[in-house]
Formats: sequence, C-alpha cells, structure tokens
Amino acid sequence: VLDSWNNDGNFKMNGSKASIQTIVENLNSADLPSNVEVVLCPPAPYLGYTADLNKQKIISVGAQNCYIKESGAYTGEISPLEIKDVGADWVILGHSERRTILNESDEFVAEKVAFALEKGIKVILCIGESIDEKKAGKTLDVCKRELSAVIKSVSNDSWKDIVVAYEPIWAIGTGLAATSQDAQDIHSEIRSYLKSEIGEIADSVRILYGGSANGKNAPEFKDKPDVDGFLVGGASLKPEFVSIITSRQ
Ligand code: G3H
Repeated sequence: VLDSWNNDGNFKMNGSKASIQTIVENLNSADLPSNVEVVLCPPAPYLGYTADLNKQKIISVGAQNCYIKESGAYTGEISPLEIKDVGADWVILGHSERRTILNESDEFVAEKVAFALEKGIKVILCIGESIDEKKAGKTLDVCKRELSAVIKSVSNDSWKDIVVAYEPIWAIGTGLAATSQDAQDIHSEIRSYLKSEIGEIADSVRILYGGSANGKNAPEFKDKPDVDGFLVGGASLKPEFVSIITSRQ
C-alpha cells in the first residue's frame, strides 16, 4: 500500500471556461487529504486558463496529449515545453481513445513518454484491453505489450515520474466499472511484471484504475493494496469527483 495516492480528472473534449472555473473552485474549497495528488487534465485550449485559476496549488494541471518535438512545423501538435510554459506539469499519454481513434501505436506512445519525461513533464500512461481481448483471456498480454514499449524507451529511474492508469476499454464511459477485486488482481500482475523488468522502483509506481469510476463505487477500491487512485473521465466533471478523491479516508 502506497502512502501517496493520485487521482486524475480527464475532461476529454468537454468543458468551458465557466465549468472549469466551477470545478477548480469546488476542489479548492474541499477538504482534500494531503497525501492525495490531484491532476486536472482539461482540453488543450484551457490548459493555461486552468493553471491560472489554480492559484492555491492544491491540485496540478496536465495535458491530454503531447508531441515528440520541442517546436516546429507540426500543425495541431502540442509541445511539452508549451505545456510547461503555461503552468502544467503532467500529460496523459496512451489513452485508448488516442490509440484507437488516432491510431497511435505502442512505439509512438513510448516515444512520446520518453520525450515528455526528458522535458520535465510527468506522465499518466494509460494501458488496458478491449472487450474482445478480455474475452480471449489476453488482458495481461495487452498490458505487458503496452508497457514493454515504454520500458524499452525510458530508464528504470524514469518510472518515478510515471503513473500507470489501467483502463479496460470496455469499462470506459459505459457505467460498467471493473470490480475492485478484478482491478486489484490485474494491478498486482502489472506491478509484478514491472518489477521483473525495472526492479524495486516498481513498488512505488502508482497504478490507477480508470473506467466508470464514480463517487459511489470508488470506496469499494479503498482497501485494495495495488489500486493507488483513479483516472476519472465523466465523473471528474461533476462535484462527485471530490468523493472519489476522498474515498480512501
Ligand atoms: O481517462 C478516463 C477514462 O477514459 C475513464 O472515463 O470515467 O468516463 O469511464 P470514464
């Protein structure tokens, strides 16, 4: 069981200045536990706005994507240096929506992870299987394949700045979250795999669960030793995000 939890809100392509202001104010006025790191990941146009609203620094801000170059002729892409410049410290990489809709390969995701880390941005690395892969009993194989590309691309020490988010694709936005025991089982296998590849540092890597996490089901995960927080989509846009963040107390 790790002392420091991590709970991240992935707004995806949702939100407005008004709704983000409400969310940040809500979090700032809540009594958040000091050992829980909270990262808000708004759409790119709102990154600087969110960072500027975050005066109390109780939370951190992250992007939902970044590219593998510092600057240049890459229309539409986001540099890790720009993310840093507007006051954000994190980036979500390898989200299944980008792997499937934008066709990002394991290798491209790994390249992005390495580049973001090199430029001082911490990474929320998403992994997880589709429903067909689950039915075929390939859950762990998929997670290992996605992790392995990153393991090959970064030093073992870099894992101090990576949070792994296990997000079974079938649970994302469906209302059908994995059971806390199923999440614990796969998280434990993910940690064992990481340990066999990167050594002892795997014990301190936060492994988050993502996929229809909400204020109601979050407390079910609180005693699971390898669930170190949540990556939250839909519910991070609502006041119940606070209940998720405080669910381990
Ligand atoms: O990044 C967040 C996940 O895709 C989970 O989304 O909480 O809306 O199921 P959800």
